[in-house]
Amino acid sequence: MNTGADYSSGTGRATDARGPARDSRGLTLLGIETSCDETAASVVRLTPDGAATVLSSVVHSQIDDHAAFGGVVPEIAARSHVEMIDGVARRAMAEAGVGYEGLDGVAATAGPGLVGGVMVGLSYGKAVALARDLPLIAVNHLEGHAVSARLGARVDYPFLLLLVSGGHCQLLEVRGVGDMTRLGTTIDDAAGEAFDKIAKALGLGYPGGPALEALASSGDGARFDLPRALLGRKDCDFSFSGLKTAASRLAQACETDPERADLADAVQTAIARQLGERSERAMKTYAETHDHRMFVVAGGVAANRTVRSTLEALATKNGFAFLAPPMAYCTDNAAMIALAGAERLQRGLTSDIDVAARPRWPLDEQSALNDPVHKPGRKGAKA
Ligand code: KG4
Ligand code: ZN
Repeated sequence: MNTGADYSSGTGRATDARGPARDSRGLTLLGIETSCDETAASVVRLTPDGAATVLSSVVHSQIDDHAAFGGVVPEIAARSHVEMIDGVARRAMAEAGVGYEGLDGVAATAGPGLVGGVMVGLSYGKAVALARDLPLIAVNHLEGHAVSARLGARVDYPFLLLLVSGGHCQLLEVRGVGDMTRLGTTIDDAAGEAFDKIAKALGLGYPGGPALEALASSGDGARFDLPRALLGRKDCDFSFSGLKTAASRLAQACETDPERADLADAVQTAIARQLGERSERAMKTYAETHDHRMFVVAGGVAANRTVRSTLEALATKNGFAFLAPPMAYCTDNAAMIALAGAERLQRGLTSDIDVAARPRWPLDEQSALNDPVHKPGRKGAKA
């Protein structure tokens, strides 16, 4: 039998045995995401002109499972993914209404993330690929975030990206899937991590980012003078650990809710300011070599309205168009994984069926290998 997928050799290949009608309709992929605390599945269609349509997007959040522990417990996350993945994927397929025969491939997050969870989704994706004779595309979770703005609007490559989530804070030149250069990264914590930890010190629930944003809306942080990181440096790197320590200490001294709201506002402003300063540096460098100036912010922290408006103002000031994904695609979802998979499949980039889950997986592996400042480790850059 001639099938689209070939798992007999060492190299996977793109499907081309499905007829010309498919080519004009584009590529339809099932995407699976299980790298942290969301079990998600989605069906996305990518047409040859580059437009993406989300046919379904199902996200089961595990927030309630982890709330009592104040953060994600890896073993609980993995077990919950095992329980939920089949139902979530079936629902995504039913809502999309295309049937398995309407799919051209299966994309699953293969890292970076909590490896127990990644293995659940990746194994599920492999099983669907094998059972339905479909190509498998192992997707880097960060690449999913990198393409996520394309789920809501037409965005042509290349663009300058600030990827800012719970585990990552990076500036990247994005030329397409598998073709990105890192311009800066965090030397300690990610911005989302800073939001979460300071929120915890303020007595807010998990996840802390949205809770801190809500509290900040009634505060005025002007009286707090929080530390500014890496002021003397000319690069595009980030650091949030000094802010985290200082703000956590101040949180302990807060006695009233209005005081806490003021501190939350100060923290939010400080994080947005640092994201803005480094992004502006990157914009200036990027503009020297690019006429098409587009600045995109993606990842969970891109859902923060102060962060968005600060970045939008800076982009406009520096002659860049600005785009952020629709709110639903800022935090973890599988539509972004399906889209990254479709773009890979379009380029003939498929994966072997024995592809391994990777707890760490830098987007720009060359920079990660070459740059001695960002050594891997618990406190180092996460990918
Ligand atoms: O992209 P994401 O869902 O997961 C990772 O890949 O890390 O990002 C989650 C992070 C968490 O740290 C969460 O607190 C933060 O994004 N976040 C926010 C907001 N919504 C989510 N941070 C600040 N303000 C928000 N509204
Ligand atoms: Zn994420």
